Amino acid sequence: MGKSYPTVSADYQKAVEKAKKKLRGFIAEKRCAPLMLRLAWHSAGTFDVATKSGGPFGTIKHPSELAHGANAGLDIAVRLLEPIKEQFPTLSYADFYQLAGVVAVEITGGPEIHSTLEERTSLSHPRRSLARCTNDHLRDVFGKAMGLSDQDIVALSGGHTLGAAHKERSGFEGPWTSNPLIFDNSYFKELLSGEKEGLLQLPSDKALLSDPVFRPLVEKYAADEDAFFADYAEAHLKLSELGFADA
Ligand code: HEM
Repeated sequence: MGKSYPTVSADYQKAVEKAKKKLRGFIAEKRCAPLMLRLAWHSAGTFDVATKSGGPFGTIKHPSELAHGANAGLDIAVRLLEPIKEQFPTLSYADFYQLAGVVAVEITGGPEIHSTLEERTSLSHPRRSLARCTNDHLRDVFGKAMGLSDQDIVALSGGHTLGAAHKERSGFEGPWTSNPLIFDNSYFKELLSGEKEGLLQLPSDKALLSDPVFRPLVEKYAADEDAFFADYAEAHLKLSELGFADA
């Protein structure tokens, strides 16, 4: 793939496998998969390709980064994960939060994401926040800033198949689909079928429908869940590795 990863020791790999098992049970029990996916995304989504700053380095756990409006509610995720993290002192927060995101997708029925672990180090200083992801300029956020493709943008938007918005966190309210704890392609089906009582469509979701490149992908994923899963797994992997593997 032309990428070079730092090597990971056998001990680290073993700790990762064990942490994954613990996370599977914990996230299922707490029914918090959506929040964990949002944590992993907000942790990674600060990456800036131009300056090579931000990225999934675990800095989201710092109060100053959590205090950004876009991260409202993620303090709960950080707090929930702490007792599990304590059992794995050798794992970095950077890896741990990305593992939680991968497990969240997996245990809700989504694709497996074959994350290559890099024994990445956590950074102790907060970096940029995700503040720019508040409008519908998706290509600015994902493309220009993070270096992701149009296909990645649409596939990752399907992350909203999980979970719901909370008035006190974002000002929005409600789930995108009628089965918010199941990772499937219903987000795309709902998006195409128009607004419905009780279901949410954000401006950034609706923006996928009016774009000549995005819309055919929405239609493809609504019709073909396997295609969505394949593209989602690829895009999520890229997201989780921003700023790590040399392209
Ligand atoms: C421009 C892009 C995006 C925007 C504007 C956006 C916006 C939002 C907003 C406003 C919420 C509600 C937060 C709350 O009130 O609790 C939310 C939740 C969520 N987002 Fe996004 N999002 C974007 C991209 C993504 C991506 C790429 C993913 C994952 C791949 C993702 C996964 C989630 C999940 C799982 C939730 C539900 C959290 C919960 O149930 O607690 N989002 N998003």
